[in-house]
Amino acid sequence: MQIVHTISDLRDALAGRGRPAFVPTMGNLHDGHLALVRQAKPLGSVMVVSIFVNRLQFLPHEDFDSYPRTLEIDAGKLHAEGCDVLFAPAEKDLYPQPQTFKVQPDPRLADILEGHFRPGFFTGVCTVVMKLLACVFSGGPGTAVFGRKDYQQVLVIRRMVEQFALPIDIVTGDTCRAGDGLALSSRNGYLDDAERAQAVQLSQALRALADAALQLGASLPALEAQAVERLRKQGWQPDYLTVRQRADLLPPAEAPQPGQLVVLGAARLGGTRLIDNLEF
Ligand code: PAF
Repeated sequence: MQIVHTISDLRDALAGRGRPAFVPTMGNLHDGHLALVRQAKPLGSVMVVSIFVNRLQFLPHEDFDSYPRTLEIDAGKLHAEGCDVLFAPAEKDLYPQPQTFKVQPDPRLADILEGHFRPGFFTGVCTVVMKLLACVFSGGPGTAVFGRKDYQQVLVIRRMVEQFALPIDIVTGDTCRAGDGLALSSRNGYLDDAERAQAVQLSQALRALADAALQLGASLPALEAQAVERLRKQGWQPDYLTVRQRADLLPPAEAPQPGQLVVLGAARLGGTRLIDNLEF
């Protein structure tokens, strides 16, 4: 596996190697990331992973400085998965000048849910993803794989790729879960033992809300408010627990029908903010 840090070295490493299969990450790789790499590998002729903790998608009070940076360990895991090229730019490599040109996503999709509680988050995500895609796919088309754990992110990126007519297939991977049902996330590492034991309550709350939403005659806003309150009583600080249409993340226009919906949640346990979702 080649490890490259600059955009020009990445382009040299990919020259003449055909269609990239690409998994962008912020590192501190867990089994969820590695499952995406395994899924992506057969979809291209050269497997590329990026590791870059993107300052642009963090608010000033968020965990940019403390976000775990474990490049050597990550490189070992990627080598074992048969990754061909690891792109691990420093900030000065990816943003040699201040990144004053940004990608502004559609506010109808990007200013709700995560974007409401983390203003500017999706501008930061779209800007770095657009730049990473420009670096990885400068030689021609290919495939990029994203995890559905970041459900809204996938939708925003899909729309961006469609609207800019980028020659890139966007493929999504399932959320990987620990044995108790907690969605794998690099931020799970912030949880202490007691919080870790409790953390599964988020996915349980989503499951319960999805089940309740399908009961005839139930008012969705009332059920969502109850779910938020129940989680709060368990010691969480929920941002939202909500049932949305998969296609556009708007509240369901009609009585909830299974197969078209997703329940999404974000909540803080102690100092750790976790997100999760379930399609139903
Ligand atoms: O999902 C992530 O890890 C990040 O948002 C991404 C897509 C790598 C952009 O920084």
